Amino acid sequence: MTKNVLFLPGDGIGPEVASAARKVLNWFGTHENFAVKVTTGLIGGAAIDVAGVPLAPATLAAACAADAVLLGAVGGPKWANQSFNLRPEAGLLDLRGAMQVFANLRPAVLFPSLSEASTLKPETVAGLDLMIVRELTGGVYFGEPRGVTELPDGKRRGINTHSYTCDEIRRVARVAFELARERKGVVCSADKANVMEAGLLWREEVQKLRDAEYSDVKLSHMLADNCAMQLVRAPLQFDVILTDNLFGDILSDQAAMLTGSLGMLPSASLGAPGKPGLYEPIHGSAPDIAGKNYANPCGMILSLALAFRHTLERPDLAARLECAVSRALENGVRTRDIGGAASTAELTDAVLFALGEKVVHVADV
Ligand code: IPM
Ligand code: MG
Repeated sequence: MTKNVLFLPGDGIGPEVASAARKVLNWFGTHENFAVKVTTGLIGGAAIDVAGVPLAPATLAAACAADAVLLGAVGGPKWANQSFNLRPEAGLLDLRGAMQVFANLRPAVLFPSLSEASTLKPETVAGLDLMIVRELTGGVYFGEPRGVTELPDGKRRGINTHSYTCDEIRRVARVAFELARERKGVVCSADKANVMEAGLLWREEVQKLRDAEYSDVKLSHMLADNCAMQLVRAPLQFDVILTDNLFGDILSDQAAMLTGSLGMLPSASLGAPGKPGLYEPIHGSAPDIAGKNYANPCGMILSLALAFRHTLERPDLAARLECAVSRALENGVRTRDIGGAASTAELTDAVLFALGEKVVHVADV
C-alpha cells in the first residue's frame, strides 16, 4: 500500500533539513521499493507570506488525510510582531491540536561517537538512551481562558491557563507505560504537584493507572525542577520521563544537549492508533543560520526514522536509518554544532552512503 507523506518545511532551517529528509525518503523509494507519495505544503511564516495565515484549512485537511506529516520548523523574527493567533507558532499548535497528536515522543540518545560533543563529561552521558513523553495538546499551551486584558486602572494583565482532565492525563500516561514495557520498564513522571492542583491531579492519575494496569512498570514521581537538575547531574537514571506540555518543552531541550546538540533530537507526535503521526525535529527554525547549508539534518532524518517505526509500518527501515546516521557520524562527517565542518548536504550524503553500504553481519562472515 502506497503511503502518503506530507512535507511541511516551514521556516528558517526547516526547508534545508526537510529537503535532507526528503532525499533520504526518496532513497528508500528507489532502493527499497518503499511505495510513497510525497506532497508538500506551507506552514508558519512561509504560509503567512503566501496566504496570510500560518496554516491554511486545505493544508490542515491534507495533514489529517496523510499517513505521516514531516515538519521542519516554524517561526522567525520576520513574523515576531504579528498578533498572537497569526504567528507562525500558532499554525503548529493548530496542527497539533487538529491532528489530536497528544503524545509527543522525544528520544534522547547519545551516539557513541558524539560523547565528546556533549558539554557534559563523557562518563556522565555515555550510554544515554532516554525517552521523554511530552503531553502535546493540553496544558498551558491550549488552556482557556487566555489572553491579555486591561485592568480598571489601565494596566495590562496576561493570562494563560494550565488545565488537564484526568482523561488527558491517562491517555498520555498509557503511551509512556506501553513504551516503558518495550524498554527498561521504568517511568519517571515529572510535575509540580507541590504547587499546582493540576499537577497533583496529574500525579494521582498517573499512579492510579499504573496500579490498575501497569504494575509491572516501575513508576516514580519527581518535581519538574528536580528533574531538570537530575537530567544534568545523573541522566542515566532515566528510562522514560512522562511530563506535561510545558515542562516537556523545556526538559526535552535540556535532554537534547546531553546528546551533543539540539540538532540531534527527533520527535514523533502520535494520536489514537491508526491516525496520522506528526514528525518534527525539536530544534526550531534557527533563523541565525538559515539558508547557510550548515544546519544539522540529523534531528529531521531521525524523525523520518520515527515515522517509519510508528506510522509507516516499517520498523526495519527505521532501524537501518538510525544505524546509517550512527555510521555517518562515526565516519567523522559532522555539522558545526557537533564539532565538525560538514554542510547539511554533506552529512545527508554521508547518511545515504552509509545506507548503501553493504553491511556484513558477523553471522554471515
Ligand atoms: C517545540 C517548539 C514548539 C513548542 C514551538 C515552536 C511552538 O519549541 O516543539 O519544542 O513550544 O512546542
Ligand atoms: Mg521546544
